[in-house]
Amino acid sequence: MSHADDTAGTRRDFLYYATAGAGAVTAGAAIWPLVNQMNPSADVRALSSIRVDVGGVAEGTQLTVQWLGKPVFVRHRTATEIEEGRAVDVSDLIDPVARNGNLQGEVPATDENRTLDEEGKWLVMMGVCTHLGCVPLGNGAGDFDGWFCPCHGSHYDTAGRIRRGPAPTNLPVPIAEFADETTIVLG
Ligand code: FES
Repeated sequence: MSHADDTAGTRRDFLYYATAGAGAVTAGAAIWPLVNQMNPSADVRALSSIRVDVGGVAEGTQLTVQWLGKPVFVRHRTATEIEEGRAVDVSDLIDPVARNGNLQGEVPATDENRTLDEEGKWLVMMGVCTHLGCVPLGNGAGDFDGWFCPCHGSHYDTAGRIRRGPAPTNLPVPIAEFADETTIVLG
């Protein structure tokens, strides 16, 4: 091996190590924010949870609140809506899964498994169509008296379950609970 080759070899080695070193630094920088996101501080956790006053939401009306940048529907259902929702056979549903963040595992999409309270008066769900993300119209809209997404014609029933149209799944129910009689905590 000539002296010139030797020099070139050394140079290549140096470049190789320098590049590897820079790569390692870059990877470290990329990983750190991810680790950070996986351990949100108390501040961040508090921000991801909101309290919604539902004291003024009359039966048969709904409130739309923004949560984590997305609309959430909070509906105070009528007796008729509850009855219609409960009369549906899960085997008739396009999506038979409850998609309720408050329930563990894949539970059936019965009306009872979608609502916040046992009586079924309160339905809380993401107001984002599961087809391509439009915000569905509510207050008894569509062929199933629940919500209707005019973007491509998805019909949701009184429990927010997809019944007709291109949307593949029911509107998801976020983690939520009553803090007291008139306050719902989201997240
Ligand atoms: S986005 Fe709702 S039907 Fe397409």
